[in-house]
Amino acid sequence: MANTKKILIIGGGGREHAVGWKVAQSPNVAKIYFAPGNGGTALLGENVPIAATDISALLEFAKKESIDLTLALPDDPLALGVVDEFRKAGLKVWGATKAAAQLESSKAFAKDFMKRHNLPTARFETFTDFEKAKAYVAGHSLPVVVKASGLALGKGVIICQTHDEAYEALENMLVKKVFGESGSEVVVEEFLTGPEISVHAFSDGKNCKMFPSSQDHKRIGEGNTGLNTGGMGTIAPVPFVSGEMMTRIEKEIIAPTLSAMTADGMPFEGLLFPGLMLTSDGPKVIEYNARFGDPETESYMRLLDTDILEVIEASLVGTLDTLDIKWKSDSIATIILASGGYPEKYEKGKVITGIEEAEKVPNVVVFHCGTKRDGDNLVTNGGRVLAVSAIAGTLEEALITAYTAVEKIHFEGMQYRKDIGKSALGQGRV
Ligand code: AMP
Ligand code: GLY
Repeated sequence: MANTKKILIIGGGGREHAVGWKVAQSPNVAKIYFAPGNGGTALLGENVPIAATDISALLEFAKKESIDLTLALPDDPLALGVVDEFRKAGLKVWGATKAAAQLESSKAFAKDFMKRHNLPTARFETFTDFEKAKAYVAGHSLPVVVKASGLALGKGVIICQTHDEAYEALENMLVKKVFGESGSEVVVEEFLTGPEISVHAFSDGKNCKMFPSSQDHKRIGEGNTGLNTGGMGTIAPVPFVSGEMMTRIEKEIIAPTLSAMTADGMPFEGLLFPGLMLTSDGPKVIEYNARFGDPETESYMRLLDTDILEVIEASLVGTLDTLDIKWKSDSIATIILASGGYPEKYEKGKVITGIEEAEKVPNVVVFHCGTKRDGDNLVTNGGRVLAVSAIAGTLEEALITAYTAVEKIHFEGMQYRKDIGKSALGQGRV
């Protein structure tokens, strides 16, 4: 039956706008709710003023509105167990359980899991005691990587060039608790080199379906300089990553991760997104995420050619293996427009103009990350504000188109990287 389903999307960023945009194209959708949503999602459905982490309010809303399917997209509600709570209440929900989401919410859990199951990752040790950690670091080669174990908005990873820097990072996390509980356990690991890519796979717990490769640009500054951000732009597929490499990644990393999670009694259902480094020694896991990436998703939703609800339904009943998921053979580039000052302090409430003109550029879609309606105006409401995506036959063309659209958009303090995709275009194939 067409137009029957009520969908609730938890979250309010560019990822949620992009998934909502794709869900809205499904013939089976009657209405989409976003909790809390943003200025862009308001155009696709109804924003509900409930925080993504307010699980009891989300549950109450889903029951009251007879929601048919809830998509849990951000990391925090997954780590808090939103999927377990919805299931307990007999509601249909898609995402990783609290146990499975530990792959992302605890780096110590993820690293121990990889060690136990012989999955390729950087060599490491975990610590809760400052003196023991310091003694270990003193004998470690440089650079050495110190990571807060818990969720830290991408800020809990310190690449230390000297031993003193490493002691300071350890002291900040374990003694001064600058990351709160997230830093009460640390992972100290070897420094890896090689290009970094994002890999996504749908999983129903038994079967997986790989996405094309993508690449994020995590630093704020051009040439990968400056502070880490949530991600400043993505491309897909990555021109230097061969089909053979993706098959190898599926065989050596994705499939064994999923069967190991099942063997450990926490089948992984939802979206598995490892960040990988393609080292001279093969692909290695830098981190696992238990959700769609942002801004990877703003690129992926435009390449996905199959009804996303069909994929999610198959994943909920465990029949992903029988589904042929189609991807456009085009290339996509997504450029993030951020507030001045991001990823440090920034102001909100700046009036945004030019989105309509940008979307008049053929093959461009602008997704909203941190925006809201303020009377007749659309204003900035976050660090990452908009994601400008363009699709084309080649990556070069997609990038030119995306940057042409970016130039139509304005808000006070707007900043973006002008080199998205540049290093990928110049790189030899692996
Ligand atoms: P994570 O939050 O674990 O993804 O780390 C953030 C960023 O730090 C990654 O995207 C990498 O660029 C870098 N990084 C993390 N771990 C390592 C490592 N072992 N060697 C080199 N770079 C790393
Ligand atoms: N773009 C990286 C992430 O979503 O973690």
